[in-house]
Amino acid sequence: MRRTIAWFLTLLAAHPALADEPVPPGPYTETECITCHTERDPNLIRQWREGSHSVTSGVGCHSCHGENHKESAVKARKDQICTGCHKGAASHSYSTSKHGIITRLEEARQDWRQPLQRGNYRTPGCSYCHLHNGDHGDTMAPGRGPEVRQWICAGCHSPRYIREQFANGKRQLEIADLKLAEGESLIVSAVDDQTDALSKLRQSLNHHRKNVLLGIGHQSPDYQWWHGQPALDGDLIRIRDRILQSSRRKSLADNLEE
Ligand code: HEC
Ligand code: HEC
Ligand code: HEC
Ligand code: HEC
Ligand code: HEC
Repeated sequence: MRRTIAWFLTLLAAHPALADEPVPPGPYTETECITCHTERDPNLIRQWREGSHSVTSGVGCHSCHGENHKESAVKARKDQICTGCHKGAASHSYSTSKHGIITRLEEARQDWRQPLQRGNYRTPGCSYCHLHNGDHGDTMAPGRGPEVRQWICAGCHSPRYIREQFANGKRQLEIADLKLAEGESLIVSAVDDQTDALSKLRQSLNHHRKNVLLGIGHQSPDYQWWHGQPALDGDLIRIRDRILQSSRRKSLADNLEE
């Protein structure tokens, strides 16, 4: 809670009148970006360092902003910079959501020089949610707590609608976890049949559970109700089938031996 309050306070304190300051054009090396901006805004650099881009994946300033100051923020706000690296389900779940569809349709009309704040955008793109207001940690990460997320959504939706969405999302994920646990215990119970086929089915379960998470996070009905829950049901049917088949084969073999 304290971290959330601190976050709101930084939001309020952010954006002093920087516009008058001359911005040197660049280009700069990665180290130069970090050194100069650490002096200017140590908090931004700390957020980036503690976030998943810096530590686990080494995604630096250049990857999102390029090497020059010209359009460096504009570039980073657009979806293409993120989808250049995040392909597959993470992007597809968003592009099949209303947010993704409207953002795509309105892209040419949107003024991308505007900071990612309330009132500046009709629908949220990747950066609007994940780097809201220039916060270089992931503003959608579960570790940030639900308050930060709900506050961001409530910039455009009614708080009650958003609370319902989150409660529904939580239920859906619980159901997905029950299915995952059931599949796991079926696989474990088939002790003498830990074949490749079963381990593929285990991977498939985890993959489809992730689809449910992305379906909820990105508000994609397709990912919740097609690539998510029904796909998990399909996994459970295939696991049971697989176990049944192999126990039939075993009893057939036993009968032949007698
Ligand atoms: C010598 C210091 C210096 C270096 C090196 C530097 N910057 Fe900056 N940067 C500034 C100043 C000054 C501004 C304008 C005031 C501000 O927004 O902080 C700025 C602004 C920015 C902005 C905001 C631009 C906007 O339109 O709002 C971004 C993004 C940025 N820098 C990224 C980078 C990246 C990426 C690098 C490395 C390629 C880099 N900077 C290197 C000094 C520097
Ligand atoms: C994952 C992509 C990504 C990475 C990596 C990244 N940035 Fe940014 N950065 C953004 C986005 C998006 C914005 C626009 C935020 C907004 O409009 O509120 C931004 C905004 C900024 C700003 C303007 C801040 C403000 O609040 O006006 C500065 C300065 C900046 N970045 C510097 C850096 C530096 C230095 C690095 C490397 C340590 C870096 N960024 C790494 C995506 C990124
Ligand atoms: C240069 C490639 C690159 C760019 C550009 C990039 N990312 Fe990433 N991002 C990664 C990698 C690598 C990870 C580490 C986790 C992974 O393997 O997916 C990551 C992690 C994440 C995570 C945490 C998810 C997880 O699986 O831990 C989110 C959320 C995310 N990125 C969103 C964004 C957004 C939003 C943008 C655009 C502003 C963006 N990324 C730009 C490569 C990139
Ligand atoms: C409406 C806000 C919103 C938009 C727009 C959005 N995301 Fe997300 N994203 C979320 C939420 C919420 C989650 C779920 C985070 C969680 O609970 O782990 C998520 C999850 C993710 C994850 C997986 C994180 C994990 O823990 O595995 C990645 C990667 C990601 N988003 C990238 C993107 C990219 C790339 C885009 C644009 C193509 C995008 N997001 C657009 C809100 C958004
Ligand atoms: C910048 C504004 C903005 C933000 C921020 C935003 N949304 Fe939206 N959202 C919209 C708009 C506009 C639509 C399309 C409304 C319509 O259906 O006509 C929409 C549609 C939706 C829909 C689909 C509704 C339907 O009828 O199918 C859901 C669900 C949703 N948003 C949830 C969220 C959640 C959850 C968040 C936060 C993670 C969020 N939104 C953040 C603007 C926003």
